[in-house]
Amino acid sequence: MTRTVYVNGEYLPETEAKVSIFDRGFLMADGVYEVTSVLGGKLIDFDGHAARLARSLAELDMKQSVTHEELLEIHRELVTRNEITDGLIYLQITRGAPGDRDFAFPPEDTEPTIVLFTQNKPGLADAPQAKTGIKVISIEDLRWHRRDIKTVQLLYPSMGKMMAKKAGCDDAWMVEEGFVTEGTSNNAYIVTKDGTIVTRHLSNDILHGITRAAVLRFAKEAQVKVEERPFTIEEAQNAAEAFITSASAFVMPVVEIDGQPVGDGKVGPLAPRIREIYLEEMRKAAI
Ligand code: PDD
Repeated sequence: MTRTVYVNGEYLPETEAKVSIFDRGFLMADGVYEVTSVLGGKLIDFDGHAARLARSLAELDMKQSVTHEELLEIHRELVTRNEITDGLIYLQITRGAPGDRDFAFPPEDTEPTIVLFTQNKPGLADAPQAKTGIKVISIEDLRWHRRDIKTVQLLYPSMGKMMAKKAGCDDAWMVEEGFVTEGTSNNAYIVTKDGTIVTRHLSNDILHGITRAAVLRFAKEAQVKVEERPFTIEEAQNAAEAFITSASAFVMPVVEIDGQPVGDGKVGPLAPRIREIYLEEMRKAAI
């Protein structure tokens, strides 16, 4: 089946979809994106992703060219047309294609480019790694200082992922001034020996994860203590558990950091419990 994608108001076969070579996203990484998961044919936390998209656009003085309702409609149409049961929807909006290259922003009337496509991932919520856990390495955080904006400048996170793969691991946790910021495409957490979840506080240093917000809410509702503060790699290696969250991995245990086992090196009790609650509640609230 040829995938149907959405480009600037049109639904097209992926082979016919085109974006200009002058697009600001292509030339300057001048664009923002969102990834929303689909479980059972329904969108997980669409409102959260739409709200963060609006914030990213506003922070970069970019036009919001589609309404919340139109975005929802496009997401649903792509799910239907591509027969997605479990998978992801990728959305990208750039500052458009002014017809030449210039560092200055294009004229106000330049239309943003909007692209959406689906990724079919049968069994997305049953990833085997949720049972075994993943291994991470630590790397220096060399990204720019507005990580709260979900831009398409993903070169350093991609390089981090490759450094992890080269080391026989799954992902990299980035460290700045001695403290973990986040994973290459996820938020990072530890569980202390007294059962408290610790994750870095919100600021411009990390992406304000939509999964993070839900997970912390569910943890508090389940009477689990939550501390939003920075932590070091050493504290993580000595913690009882560690995990990551994102729209594509949901809640994923981390069992090794820089070659050191976390806790007893096995998936602990809390991360799988939070994962189960997250998936159950989010499936119920999916639209
Ligand atoms: N990444 N931190 C970073 C740097 C991210 O890129 C992401 C998401 C997250 C988690 O955010 P959320 O819970 O809203 O997905 C944290 C997406 C999934 C991606 O780039 O594919």
